[in-house]
Amino acid sequence: MSDTLQIRDLDVPRGGRPVLHGVSIDIPAGEITTLLGPNGAGKSTLVLTIGGALPSTAGSIDLGGVELRGAKPEKVRGNGIAVVPEGRRLLPNLTVEDNLKVATYNLSAADAKAGIASALELFPELEKRWELTARSLSGGEQQMVVLAQALASKPKVVVVDELSLGLAPVVVKRLMPVMEQVASQGVGVLLIEQFAHVALALANKAYVIEGGRIQYSGTAAELRDNPDIVKAAYLLGADVD
Ligand SMILES: Nc1ncnc2c1ncn2[C@@H]1O[C@H](COP(=O)(O)OP(=O)(O)OP(=O)(O)O)[C@@H](O)[C@H]1O
Ligand SMILES: [Mg+2]
Repeated sequence: MSDTLQIRDLDVPRGGRPVLHGVSIDIPAGEITTLLGPNGAGKSTLVLTIGGALPSTAGSIDLGGVELRGAKPEKVRGNGIAVVPEGRRLLPNLTVEDNLKVATYNLSAADAKAGIASALELFPELEKRWELTARSLSGGEQQMVVLAQALASKPKVVVVDELSLGLAPVVVKRLMPVMEQVASQGVGVLLIEQFAHVALALANKAYVIEGGRIQYSGTAAELRDNPDIVKAAYLLGADVD
């Protein structure tokens, strides 16, 4: 049994054509792993497949000896994998409190309470916003609630697609250390980021996906030292400075 979420040889079609081709990624407990790649490479497709929202045609998604490929989203969640899809939204007319309660409805009352309390330790600023509707929060605060929703179930693995999308750099600076803190508590974190340098600064291991295939895997330090590898994957040269 392994604490690593092991994705092996995953094939995923969308709209009748293959999108992911034999994708293999490890997401070990207690570490941040990052997945980089240009638009349309298949990053969100992988996230949705892990979460049980998209069917795959081959491969395996294994956590602790449990095969989760093809499992329904509730089963994936129930086995300790929390997925934050790209552009996840809150229920705008519900309060912060109710948005967190909605996200923990499948837990026992005691687990929900403990999970929400531990998520709030990561984002103490949300306590002041507790009774406000989600729509009245800033973009950064909304993203904090989205992360708190995912973390409140005390997942073993959390997969976050485009954490910093649309957020100001100062907000990104606030959120990234939280992901480090989460990993230091033993959670396996997969971070998908448009800002390669931000993700590479935090990650242990990095993968680059292009055209639905993993084109590179190695330590994040190797990629930091060889930004040309990332630039090549982004074809026109992404800004990795
Ligand atoms: N709903 C869909 N139906 C059919 N094909 C889709 C659908 N969504 C995405 N695709 C295709 O799947 C491929 C991978 O898209 P995906 O959204 O996974 O890429 P991505 O790496 O997340 O890109 P981005 O950086 O823009 O978020 C693309 O070729 C895209 O055109
Ligand atoms: Mg995407």
